[in-house]
Amino acid sequence: MEINQSRRRFIATMACTSSMYLTGCTGAGEDRYNEINTQIRSPLPVSPDTLDLVRHATLAANGHNTQPWLFDVSRSNIDILPDFTRRTPIVDPDDHHLYASLGCAAENLSLASRAIGRSGEVAIDASGDGRIEVDQSPTTQYVSSLFGAITSRQVSRIAYEGRSAPLDTLTRLQFASNSYGVDAYMITDKAQMEKILELVIGGNSKQLDDPAFVSELKHWIRFNAESASTTRDGLYTACSGNPTSPDFIGSTMFNLFFSKDSANDDYAAQIRTSSGLFVFVADTDSLEGWINAGRAYERFALQATVDGLKHSFVNQTVEVVEQRARLQSLLGIGSDRPNFVVRFGYGPELPKSLRRSVDDVIVNS
Ligand SMILES: Cc1cc2nc3c(=O)[nH]c(=O)nc-3n(C[C@H](O)[C@H](O)[C@H](O)COP(=O)(O)O)c2cc1C
Repeated sequence: MEINQSRRRFIATMACTSSMYLTGCTGAGEDRYNEINTQIRSPLPVSPDTLDLVRHATLAANGHNTQPWLFDVSRSNIDILPDFTRRTPIVDPDDHHLYASLGCAAENLSLASRAIGRSGEVAIDASGDGRIEVDQSPTTQYVSSLFGAITSRQVSRIAYEGRSAPLDTLTRLQFASNSYGVDAYMITDKAQMEKILELVIGGNSKQLDDPAFVSELKHWIRFNAESASTTRDGLYTACSGNPTSPDFIGSTMFNLFFSKDSANDDYAAQIRTSSGLFVFVADTDSLEGWINAGRAYERFALQATVDGLKHSFVNQTVEVVEQRARLQSLLGIGSDRPNFVVRFGYGPELPKSLRRSVDDVIVNS
């Protein structure tokens, strides 16, 4: 679970304080934010280089936007390595999300490599620290539609429009998601979605009752464009449809008004206005399986973007162990581990999140 769209009282108070602030001094922060976003999301240049490929990889989804990756470009392949200084040990004690995030980046890197005529084959060294090698040998260029969506994919943590997606769109989503040995269960039946909503609410309540969970979440929230552009990571409130405010006001309001009841109401509204849900289940509960689940999600998310759909994670059901067991029995998947739950639907565009500079994530071994 991450920051949600509207915690009613939190937002109402924030809205007053933020409008004061907006008239005062956010201009420069927002300009800087937009400038960085334009730069990180620019298309591949005419003569792209390895750094352009890495930039596309970093636009992948990743838990809490901690960007827990490093890219070793010193060999013939591009290798993706975990950056354990960017773990989120409370929500993700076994680094499942961390490795899944590397999988998301690997998928983007693979698609971008093919788009410039490099192989992009992915190999996972699951025996060590989970290094992922993305082959850069020359091959036929292939600019896929999924590649074209890398710069615009984003998660949208808001209520959607409530309409269904057409069958051909659902078929494409299923095709994209069922990749790399991952089974993606699509749920569009409203009664089934309600059952998953119950699990989300149970998990969310448990998480928000845990001060360590809330503190870790808050650590990664960026309350204004200036903070977001300084760190270029974390969960910027505006990206979740929330108002911005100076750090000390945002932090105080968060402590005072962030409540599980309003968060649960938001999740209910968000799931009930979604066209459907996908549950991703990799074939093994291992580093390799987690990475593959990330790759499959990233393909789903890029395909959804191509088809004009928004999506966001509702992972409380897989992050809280008791809820995960309930989800396993609801899906009838025995002891197979569900990796993520994602909802999708039609909705408006929100500001996009930032990424750190490529220079900050490159290493030479
Ligand atoms: C493994 C993984 C777990 C995630 N879990 C959640 C989650 O529980 N709730 C949520 O709102 N977003 C979740 N996200 C989405 C990230 O917060 C999001 O990708 C990140 O903030 C960057 O934003 P962007 O995807 O819009 O670029 C998750 C992403 C990944 C890859």
